[in-house]
Amino acid sequence: MRPSVLVTRATFTDIAGRLREHFNVEDNPDDALWDPVELRRRLQGRQGVMSHGSDRIDAALLDACPTLKAVCNVGVGYNNVDVEACTARGVLVTNTPDVLTETTADFGFALMMATARRIGESERFVRQGEWTKTGIFDMFAGSDVHGATLGILGMGRIGRAVARRGSLGFGMRVIYHNRSRLTAEAEAESGARYVDKATLLREADHLVLVLPYSAASHHAIGAEELQRMKPTATLTNIARGGIVDDAALASALRTGTIAAAGLDVFEGEPRVHPALLGLPNVVLTPHIGSASIQTRRAMAALTVDNLIAALGAGPRAGEPPTPVNPEVLAARRR
Ligand code: 8YV
Repeated sequence: MRPSVLVTRATFTDIAGRLREHFNVEDNPDDALWDPVELRRRLQGRQGVMSHGSDRIDAALLDACPTLKAVCNVGVGYNNVDVEACTARGVLVTNTPDVLTETTADFGFALMMATARRIGESERFVRQGEWTKTGIFDMFAGSDVHGATLGILGMGRIGRAVARRGSLGFGMRVIYHNRSRLTAEAEAESGARYVDKATLLREADHLVLVLPYSAASHHAIGAEELQRMKPTATLTNIARGGIVDDAALASALRTGTIAAAGLDVFEGEPRVHPALLGLPNVVLTPHIGSASIQTRRAMAALTVDNLIAALGAGPRAGEPPTPVNPEVLAARRR
């Protein structure tokens, strides 16, 4: 019998269509949002799922869907998946690293620059017809990016790509903090120097967050951390909602504790904390860090390759390119 898979969100039909060469496929061309009950219902009797950040794959769901063998998540982050629960039940998890690194770093840099140079505020000003007098000397004067100190919290692939842009492209002094320090070679290649978190907060002119979300990184930036930053500093979050305490950030932006923020991710998105929406000094984007057409296609393609291989089909049968819990594959081979 052909395995059966679920594709939870609408995606490029030419790419997801490759799944039909191997599997029975149920997809979601209307991109309806399925709640946990609906997701569980649609997963009954299926072996694989092409899931997204909006799908919670937890122990309760796995227990209710005992035929499931592979969870292939579209995205490098997989905090929507309880990997430990998957591993314990022999369910393989895959993600999409590498293909989105440079695109997401481009976006992080763009958002940081838009924040530092007040592009959101000034764009609204022009669009609303408020630009009635030319040459106002200090109009929307922001802070420089070139030559400034770039701080990076989380130094994985994307963090290193942001660091390279800062050091090589903009002559920035780059400092970073991470759970583990990079090798001397990787530090040299990124042009970045390791510092403790307190130094990072104190010295960064522009702080960019690129760390994965976990219980340990929940509210890694809250009122206390914001208090330690320069009043002229900017904060950019392209990682995950929940890493920043959005209520504390809104209050820090309102009182001038820091100068400005650029946010692509939010606690409880797509809802945005109402206190942020009213502030001029925050640039808000709807979780589009990896959203170039080329990269979104590459992410979909990698997920499809993972799912085909994870369920034992195609040229890489049994060897999906980017497993998160490869121990499941090792156990299957034994
Ligand atoms: C996606 C992401 O928007 O890769 C990630 O971790 O956050 C994004 O690229 C998201 O995962 C889509 O499901």
